[in-house]
Amino acid sequence: RHVSLIGAPTDVGAGARGASMGPEALRVAGLAEALQAHGVEVKDCGNLAGPSNPWQPPTAGYRHLDEVTAWNQAVHDAVYAELGGGRMPILLGGDHCLGLGSIAAVAHHCRDTGKKLRVLWLDAHADFNTSQLTPSGNIHGMPVACLCGYGPQELIQIGGKVPAIDPKWIRQIGIRSVDPGEKRFVHEVGLEVFDMRYIDEMGMRHTMELALATMDANTHLHVSFDVDFLDPDVAPGVGTTIPGGPTYREAQLCMEMIADTGRLASLDIMELNPALDVRNKTALVAVDLVESLFGKSTLMRK
Ligand code: ARG
Ligand code: MN
Ligand code: MN
Ligand code: MN
Repeated sequence: RHVSLIGAPTDVGAGARGASMGPEALRVAGLAEALQAHGVEVKDCGNLAGPSNPWQPPTAGYRHLDEVTAWNQAVHDAVYAELGGGRMPILLGGDHCLGLGSIAAVAHHCRDTGKKLRVLWLDAHADFNTSQLTPSGNIHGMPVACLCGYGPQELIQIGGKVPAIDPKWIRQIGIRSVDPGEKRFVHEVGLEVFDMRYIDEMGMRHTMELALATMDANTHLHVSFDVDFLDPDVAPGVGTTIPGGPTYREAQLCMEMIADTGRLASLDIMELNPALDVRNKTALVAVDLVESLFGKSTLMRK
């Protein structure tokens, strides 16, 4: 397997500064070396460039829309190019607004190649706000809505087709913070959400069995991993911690079951905020989980 690491050092979509340091923290935590230890050939593409964070209040329901658009276009172009070269892109965030550019590129690639796309959105948040619904104006709370065609023209058109994806292709896991208007909209559009209540009652194993069903040999599986998916005890280094997330064991099982499908074809590692972390602990946990995502297991697997 051939992987391309793409750094996107920005926090223009977030409500706290610091996710711009995420890519380097993941490198320092040994991401490339960990992948290589599992037989993966790693090319580090370095960091993308884009506008700095102007740290302005929202206008018309969006904070930093121009800057968010520029960064997402850069991410789209880089992810699309690596996929076209037959490599598996791993986007190193950066805040989660960039999931839009990344997944728009993956959808674009799937149209080119006739692949069927499935998106696993691992997050405490649904990220399904619009300018009307958002309590903050922070665009990292909007990428899933934008991908489904609900958002400003400059963002929803980034992958060349509107909408970039069908809501039916998404499975959200770990959700435990959804704003009031956003909650109604999630329901209206029919997003498939496995929230923490579901995981508590049914367990991670059953949850992942359902979330990973209906994939076949022609499926491109994209995982968008917002590090705030994890319980803050395990992963304090994020800007929007929400208590009550998956434990270390549950998160490991989640990643292992994704690995077992053999369908993982692109990945985002988002929202890691080293300014809020403790001795790079959250980056190390993220690397540990990514190893499981690439097939690390204690014993030989049958
Ligand atoms: N729902 C909140 C908002 O829209 C928080 C979003 C957090 N998103 C994230 N990717 N961390 O402002
Ligand atoms: Mn095209
Ligand atoms: Mn989140
Ligand atoms: Mn998110």
